[in-house]
Amino acid sequence: SKEKIALFTIFGGTGDLAQRKLYPSLFKLYQKGYLQDHFAVIGTARRPWTDEHYHEIITDSLASLDADAEKVKAFASHFYYQSHDVTDAQHYVTLKRLSETLDAQYGLQGNRIFYLAMAPNFFGTIAQHLKSENILTNNGFNRVIIEKPFGHDFESAKVLNDELTATFDENQVYRIDHYLGKEMIQNISAIRFGNNIWEFLWNNRYISNVQITLSEKLGVEERAVYYDNSGALRDMVQNHILQILSLLTMDQPVEFTENDINIEKVKALRSLRPYTPAEVADNFVRGQYAADGDIKDYRSEDKISPDSNTDTFVAGKVMIDNFRWSGVPFYVRTGKRLADKFTRIDVVFKRPIVNIFNHDNNASDSTNELAPNVLTINVEPTEGFELRMNAKCVGQGFATTPIQLDYDHDSEATANSPEAYERLLHDALNGDATNFTHWQEVAYSWKFVDVIQKYWDEHTPDFPNYRPGTMGPAASDELLKRDGNEWVYKE
Ligand code: BG6
Repeated sequence: SKEKIALFTIFGGTGDLAQRKLYPSLFKLYQKGYLQDHFAVIGTARRPWTDEHYHEIITDSLASLDADAEKVKAFASHFYYQSHDVTDAQHYVTLKRLSETLDAQYGLQGNRIFYLAMAPNFFGTIAQHLKSENILTNNGFNRVIIEKPFGHDFESAKVLNDELTATFDENQVYRIDHYLGKEMIQNISAIRFGNNIWEFLWNNRYISNVQITLSEKLGVEERAVYYDNSGALRDMVQNHILQILSLLTMDQPVEFTENDINIEKVKALRSLRPYTPAEVADNFVRGQYAADGDIKDYRSEDKISPDSNTDTFVAGKVMIDNFRWSGVPFYVRTGKRLADKFTRIDVVFKRPIVNIFNHDNNASDSTNELAPNVLTINVEPTEGFELRMNAKCVGQGFATTPIQLDYDHDSEATANSPEAYERLLHDALNGDATNFTHWQEVAYSWKFVDVIQKYWDEHTPDFPNYRPGTMGPAASDELLKRDGNEWVYKE
């Protein structure tokens, strides 16, 4: 049977993430039969809710799915609410009792998934109490899923990791990076290692540069307090962008397994060139959005301090010092209030060494230059690939022109395909942490980012410096221009 058996204990069960992502994802797993009779969920948070009220919240969180009411009701009946103070040992005793009751009632075989979906400063306390109050079982599995951010810098991440590993082994820890649950991010490995035409060219002899863009149209919305303490570099580069980079640059794993992939990703992240402070200034650009029409500037947003120096945009040039990638710039960028909401990866190949078509001596301009081949991986909202090639112009004479091959996943298939959180919860139920981040990956990513952040903290920026609806400050374009390159995606 495909049925998975587990008790979920969600810390932060009343929160936004639980309602927006976790409950709908669990429901989809239920609809598909991965969860059936043998699962239960304990939602905890400080507020004193009743089970009835909790069931209403669950039901409301599924409203947009347009599901059968009986099915929703049956699903919600597996949910139990427990008011809980994470710092109070006595509360864990209650939690343990409820867990044991539910285990007996639903036949949960001692399988436990603890989901930490609340403020990260409590992660350590929770982990510690799970052990000291004997909540972990010894007749089933114990796994902990941790929401980002995993630390604020390397030091705090290390403290957090030490706290977690005092209770859990690394192989019981599932650190969420929801980008790893996205269809097209998982596709990176499929196209690289499933196609000679890419993997043979996937190195510094044939690739000119690689561009990763995670563009967002919205501002900080309700997350101002978190975001103002974080900024784009910590919020998006340390985790999502460096994870994508590691998948793009890693060597071929011996087998496509969690352990082998982890080995290769860690090697890639260890090879990131650490910048000196002077190099940070040259290779990383930060930005903060200005006002435009109805849109307030970042510093005027609710709960943001009027002199905040938080970066809402970052663009950078990342170098990887190994045999495969030496000399190839990886340009990355992300930001709030940009032109549009999308994620894409552009792999720009080197131009032909000689342009034999360009033999018109009078043509001193470069209009005859052959365009580079570009392989684009569209992650979202479009899911697919584009390939730009040079071909002959139709008709008399001989001239070349860039043409484009396009492939998009069938929209019906993508509409039915699981959302990131559903996939990741399913993986965690299966004990497969391939698409979660492992400690060493987190550690090397922070070490790379810390140097940049430190330099920024010590130098006052000239903010605001970009207009909403654009692709960030001009310095981001200049970063590539200096190398004779340009962003493939322009607004
Ligand atoms: C989160 C960041 O990790 O990713 C948010 O904290 C960001 O600031 C979000 O908006 C983007 O995710 P997605 O899936 O919408 O591209």
